[in-house]
Amino acid sequence: MSRVHIIDHPLIQHKLTLIRDKHTGSKDFRDLVDEVATLMAYEVTRDLPLESAQVETPIGIAHTKVIAGKKVGVVAILRAGLGMVDGILKLIPAAKVGHIGIYRDPETLKPVDYYCKLPTDVPERDLIIVDPMLATGGSACAAIKFLKERGAHSIKLMVLIAAPEGIAAVQREHPDVDVFTAAVDECLNSHGYIVPGLGDAGDRLFGTK
Ligand code: PRP
Ligand code: URA
Repeated sequence: MSRVHIIDHPLIQHKLTLIRDKHTGSKDFRDLVDEVATLMAYEVTRDLPLESAQVETPIGIAHTKVIAGKKVGVVAILRAGLGMVDGILKLIPAAKVGHIGIYRDPETLKPVDYYCKLPTDVPERDLIIVDPMLATGGSACAAIKFLKERGAHSIKLMVLIAAPEGIAAVQREHPDVDVFTAAVDECLNSHGYIVPGLGDAGDRLFGTK
């Protein structure tokens, strides 16, 4: 069963409150999502393997650690996942970035895919899928399936807000994928929106609607 990591650092919780606020405009919304993505990246990368290293300081030799050559890939689910990419790249600038275009059909709530461009060495990378919202879980499960069909075997899912329904879907369909979220909300409404959530993440990020 995949694990659910709720990252409840005070800075993240504070910023998430501002993100949820319906009075927060697109510019502040974008900035805050970017900042929270950076903060969450600390936890998501906590298990990256280290190897021994040594450097010469001005005083002597320091026996230290560096990340053991692991290759990371960040995969954004378009559109809203784009808002979390730069925040992670601030910490892991060498990560390659993939894009999977998926939107949710407003009637059926089923995922519809329309674009995919991934790093060529997907099987060798530790992949972090990013999307602010895990609602029914349809989009995330479709993205995970996409990556697995291309040979991925190390995948984490990083979201800002998850609904219990979405978590259950990932755990059922992809029990090997851990979920990292800043909050688990109450439920979905009849339109498939997370309650209380933050509204439509893509529209709020990009000022559409
Ligand atoms: C939103 C969100 C997720 C998806 C979550 O995208 O960014 O990708 O919905 O819902 P689900 O868990 O029920 O699949 P949306 O379909 O609104 O597309 P957009 O980002 O292009 O606006
Ligand atoms: N997509 C969003 O952007 N928000 C939700 O609450 C659910 C799906």
